[in-house]
Amino acid sequence: MVKTLKSKTTKHTSTSSKKVFYTLKAAQTMQIGRELVKNLKKGDIICLSGELGAGKTTLVKGIARGLKIENDILSPTFVLVREYPIKNDAKFCHIDLYRINEPQFFDSGMEQYFTDSNICAVEWPERIKGMIPKRHIKIEMKSTKNNSRKIVISYKGYKQ
Ligand SMILES: Nc1ncnc2c1ncn2[C@@H]1O[C@H](COP(=O)(O)OP(=O)(O)OP(=O)(O)O)[C@@H](O)[C@H]1O
Ligand SMILES: [Mg+2]
Repeated sequence: MVKTLKSKTTKHTSTSSKKVFYTLKAAQTMQIGRELVKNLKKGDIICLSGELGAGKTTLVKGIARGLKIENDILSPTFVLVREYPIKNDAKFCHIDLYRINEPQFFDSGMEQYFTDSNICAVEWPERIKGMIPKRHIKIEMKSTKNNSRKIVISYKGYKQ
């Protein structure tokens, strides 16, 4: 039977291990996003992989709630990026690359978002493979049965 695992705090200093969660409904996936925020810092990039409907945007909504963003989080599929001001003069940038291919990305100048003043969440990061900075938080999502989702979170390139 699939169980929901209580999410644990993960510090940047001990980020080599993978954490695996199973959620049974969207609200639980959002909760994982909210928990993730406790360890987020300006400059962090969260890459969310998973098939259509895996729950990437749902998790991003949780991150936005955790960052105290009150706007509704709409999928940025048609605009590629939506920006939201957050505390400390920072921005949260929600990027959805489903509809683009690599050359378009180069033209769009979107690399400007990966800076130390932003926190970025990127859906479909595999569309720009090779352009994602080495240090990022990787989230892999998979539909299992019914409404459950398997969510694997790993910190890549963070100091141990
Ligand atoms: N355990 C769950 N976790 C996340 N979403 C769930 C879960 N159970 C059901 N859902 C539903 O699945 C859908 C997930 O949609 P969402 O837009 O988050 O997916 P996505 O991965 O962003 O898709 P896309 O690739 O099209 O952007 C939502 O309608 C959500 O309510
Ligand atoms: Mg989405």
